[in-house]
Amino acid sequence: MTARILGRWAHLLLRCPQASAASSRLQAATAQRAGTPWPLAWARPAAKPLCLGHGLPEEEQPSIKFKLSELDELVKKAGTPEAVLQLWAERGGSANQAGLCLIHISRLALKKDRAESANLLQDPRCVDMLETVNSQISVVWNGMLVSLLHSLSNLGLLPSTPVMQSLQTEALWRLRRLTYRQLAYLADWVSARHSQGQGNEMLSTTLLKQLELRWTELDNPRTLATLMARAGALSSSLMDRLEDKVLELAEKFSAEDIRKVALALSSQRRRSVPVLRALSYHLREKPSSELQAPLLLDMAFAYSKLNFHHTPMLERMSSELLPWLPELSPADVMRWSKALALLKWLHLPLFEGFAQHFMNGSESYSTLQLSNLILSFARLNFQPTNREKFYKKVHEALRGSWLGLEPFLLTDMVWSLCVLQQAVPDYIAAVTDTNFHTKLTEGAASHVVSYKLKLLQIAASRQLEPLGAPGECPPAGTPSAVPVKAGTHTALQRGLHAAVQTLAENRTSALRTNVSTVYGWVIDAELVLDAENKPVDLENLVAPHLPGGGGADLLPQGAHRMAFLAWEFSHFCCKSKDLLGRFAMQKRHLQLAGFLVVEVPYFDWLELKFDWQKVSYLKDKMGHAVAEEMAK
Ligand SMILES: *[C@@H]1O[C@H](CO)[C@@H](O)[C@H](O)[C@H]1NC(C)=O
Ligand SMILES: *[C@@H]1O[C@H](CO)[C@@H](O)[C@H](O)[C@H]1NC(C)=O
Ligand SMILES: *[C@@H]1O[C@H](CO)[C@@H](O)[C@H](O)[C@H]1NC(C)=O
Repeated sequence: MTARILGRWAHLLLRCPQASAASSRLQAATAQRAGTPWPLAWARPAAKPLCLGHGLPEEEQPSIKFKLSELDELVKKAGTPEAVLQLWAERGGSANQAGLCLIHISRLALKKDRAESANLLQDPRCVDMLETVNSQISVVWNGMLVSLLHSLSNLGLLPSTPVMQSLQTEALWRLRRLTYRQLAYLADWVSARHSQGQGNEMLSTTLLKQLELRWTELDNPRTLATLMARAGALSSSLMDRLEDKVLELAEKFSAEDIRKVALALSSQRRRSVPVLRALSYHLREKPSSELQAPLLLDMAFAYSKLNFHHTPMLERMSSELLPWLPELSPADVMRWSKALALLKWLHLPLFEGFAQHFMNGSESYSTLQLSNLILSFARLNFQPTNREKFYKKVHEALRGSWLGLEPFLLTDMVWSLCVLQQAVPDYIAAVTDTNFHTKLTEGAASHVVSYKLKLLQIAASRQLEPLGAPGECPPAGTPSAVPVKAGTHTALQRGLHAAVQTLAENRTSALRTNVSTVYGWVIDAELVLDAENKPVDLENLVAPHLPGGGGADLLPQGAHRMAFLAWEFSHFCCKSKDLLGRFAMQKRHLQLAGFLVVEVPYFDWLELKFDWQKVSYLKDKMGHAVAEEMAK
């Protein structure tokens, strides 16, 4: 008998959307009729507040069960809130029956609009139900209590109303008696109220503590994922526990659970590497059918936000996503390309696909989406094969709309086109205008400095590079170097400085380090070599790259200016020896400004153990650079 009633309950609740997660478990659990605590919690009548003993055994309340089954049949058939209200008016009943009706009404009302739900609450029959619940709150079952909070909130009842207050107080009293899943479901409700500024401090603090203390009871991946997404944000110590649980349960996660957890971590900026590794591992084990495009996009977004690189996972995601590409929206393409660019992951077929996607439907791209695509391409220094056709479309799409971009984004967009060697003089003129500069002075100091540098680099493009498209050449801006912050050198830079100092035979007058140029680029070290490849004093030599222009003497006959650039790990695309767009432009600009560039990548430098090796490495590279120059 009891099993049958429970089965019906489960069925009924399953159709109640806000209780679906919980009730589907309920249904599964009732099917087996044993094991999990859910059915018991539902069946067991409520304990008295602060109950010292155990809840009453089920058999002691047979009458409620019996009446409920009658009403259950009828409520199940009711297709409208009105029908349920009518049933209640005719039959009335206990608090649990009122609760059942309210939950059902809430489910039915979800299909209606908000105004109608509000009217429902005014209905005297509904008021009667609420009063019944309120007056007999202590006999309302545990699971019902939690479901009612959700359902009544969905109907638009505020947490401050008397019946909601009673439900919350009752839940607070009974926390220790709720199952872990009920606690998690309650936490879901509490955190949703929190985000609306209607939090109940007492309930939420005690609940979080309870969840934390009883974390070993957590054995269900779905509950865990939901809990991380909702309650995790409210307590970082709970989140620590939950992360441990993820490591334990990750194997049982569905792809959807993995997505939820990854998004929870990223929204809370928790870069927990072991957890992310476990998630990646298990996601990779999933069949393709579970890896749908929206899920992949969310994962890429989470990874990029947490700056977490996992090459095999990225490979898998990229190849899974490729066939979906034609179906993606411009917004998806923007998001995906942005995530990959942040991760420095240049997957050529995908990026070719992005370019093709734009060319297929350029009219459906907004200026913002196109700008972001350009930004991603520039970051990775990616040029589509169909280059001319692509940029033709880009310029067509930007015409008439680019000036409407927000100033910082406009600067980024023009800068990116400079990286890709596609900037039009009009764009450059717009952002190098001094009136425009004042628009870029808001925000944190480091932010302002980085945009000042970008403007200098844009101006350098105009000065040094043949531009992609013809147009009026704008007047020069006001280039002045931006000072380098002292004491921010990496090990590679320090090593390079020391080796170059040896090359210059310790003559400080023959060497410059950390040179801030008028082009907005910093040169790690600078030497001038005479025709015999010996460093010469450079203090009195002209230096057009310096703000003051240097000294008065011209470079000796046959001399070369050398610029040494330290390329760190972070300057390259992931798993590759290709520079990111920014550094590729730096190298190009310096070469155009008359320097022979000596590149010192981290992967070479790491191999050099002794100082003499470093010095001879540089000598070798300098020799090559000079020989190459002579060969031209
Ligand atoms: C672009 O259009 C071609 C031809 O209609 C189609 O085959 C291709 O899949 C499309 N590519 C993308 C990325 O939308
Ligand atoms: C330039 O580099 C040297 C060597 O690392 C360092 O001692 C010095 O402080 C740096 N100068 C500036 C302005 O950062
Ligand atoms: C440069 O100075 C270092 C110590 O400061 C010294 O060991 C080295 O011998 C000097 N090199 C030359 C060529 O004078």
